[in-house]
Amino acid sequence: MDFRLTEEEKMVQDTARSFAQNELKPIAAEIDKNHKIPDEIIKKLGELGFFGTYIPEEYGGAGLSFLSYIIVVEEISKVCASTGVLISAHTSLACNPILEFGTEEQKQKYLTPLAKGEKVGCILLTEPEAGSDAANVSTTVKKEGDYYIANGNKIFVTNGGYRDIGILIATHNKSLRHKGINAFILDLKSEGIEVLRHEEKMGIRGTYTTAFALDNVKIPKENLLGKEGEGFKIAMDLLDGGRIGIAAQALGIAEGAFERALEYSKERKQFGKPISAFQAIQFKLADMAMRIEAAKLLVYESAWIKDNLKKGLASYTDLIIKSSMAKAYASETATYVTKEALQIFGGYGYITEYEMERYYRDAKITEIYEGTNEVQRIVISKNLLK
Ligand code: CAA
Repeated sequence: MDFRLTEEEKMVQDTARSFAQNELKPIAAEIDKNHKIPDEIIKKLGELGFFGTYIPEEYGGAGLSFLSYIIVVEEISKVCASTGVLISAHTSLACNPILEFGTEEQKQKYLTPLAKGEKVGCILLTEPEAGSDAANVSTTVKKEGDYYIANGNKIFVTNGGYRDIGILIATHNKSLRHKGINAFILDLKSEGIEVLRHEEKMGIRGTYTTAFALDNVKIPKENLLGKEGEGFKIAMDLLDGGRIGIAAQALGIAEGAFERALEYSKERKQFGKPISAFQAIQFKLADMAMRIEAAKLLVYESAWIKDNLKKGLASYTDLIIKSSMAKAYASETATYVTKEALQIFGGYGYITEYEMERYYRDAKITEIYEGTNEVQRIVISKNLLK
């Protein structure tokens, strides 16, 4: 594969980097503290095309490559992981399934406002009893005339608090396990949807993580995404791409923490020298840089695979394996690098003002959501053993 970025991808990288450094970096600590990404930032992200980077222009997107989207998430996450996951969950978990499985009407009605940034998307998949075992969802749908009636509870809905558009994964026949699952486009302002709570979290505190109760929610039958029984396949497909988005978020967190620790090691003096003069610090920096480089290759390679699937240059099994590898490796790199970066800052690393503790807190979730890293290892080995 060719790792050089196209002119367009370099432009996106420059735009995302300057937005992140100039407009997000100064307020990233505030976003964490206030548990909210300001509305003006969301508006700006939409204007820059970052809510639909690889969605075709005819549906309100920027019409760029999947790799461009990954670069946007990486650059933004270098300074603000909350904003990184806002874009990533919105794009991979809501825009992508409508693009891949939606009818022309669904794309016009739902994908276009999402890609323009007028609405924020999310997925309602996880339940209190069905986390890693995604085929075991208990939220039911029953067809009645022109509607499906949905009942159940959904948790851990990233971006759920915006109450715009969600992809609902629910069963019409639980005994069929994954073959009984449907996917729907759900208007989150529909009657019968109650917000139970927005979770208090260790990290990515600028994002909403919402729990919903669905009580006899009427979903128009034309909002069924794909066919009856195709919901599990749709969920797995969106997660295959979504895991690359989380990997990019983890990569950005690791790079952001590393850049700060590298600078700090040159400024901070102990025993009459900058701490970067000591091998104890040099070895840490080298190990951090090695792992970041390896993670970046995996993340970019999986994005390249996603871009080239339809050209027949890679197989779908490659995508499944590499996206899970990228997600597991990049997230473990993020937790490792942020821990080491915090150590380089010493006592100051523990002080909020220096922001290392935020990077450390934000990194951990990347090992957990969109499938824990134990799930990633199951996915990798299952496909290798096929
Ligand atoms: N891609 C495409 N298809 C896949 C797939 C994948 N990664 N994994 C499985 N499938 C297909 C299989 O090919 C099989 O298809 P057939 O019936 O045609 O043969 C079907 O799905 C069932 O496969 P399995 O029997 O292997 O499925 P399983 O029930 O054993 O589950 C699992 C497999 C990988 C563990 C799956 O349940 C999984 O990925 N779990 C994790 C779910 C997850 O990531 N949840 C969190 C996401 S949302 C979130 O984090 C919140 C947020 O807002 C960010």
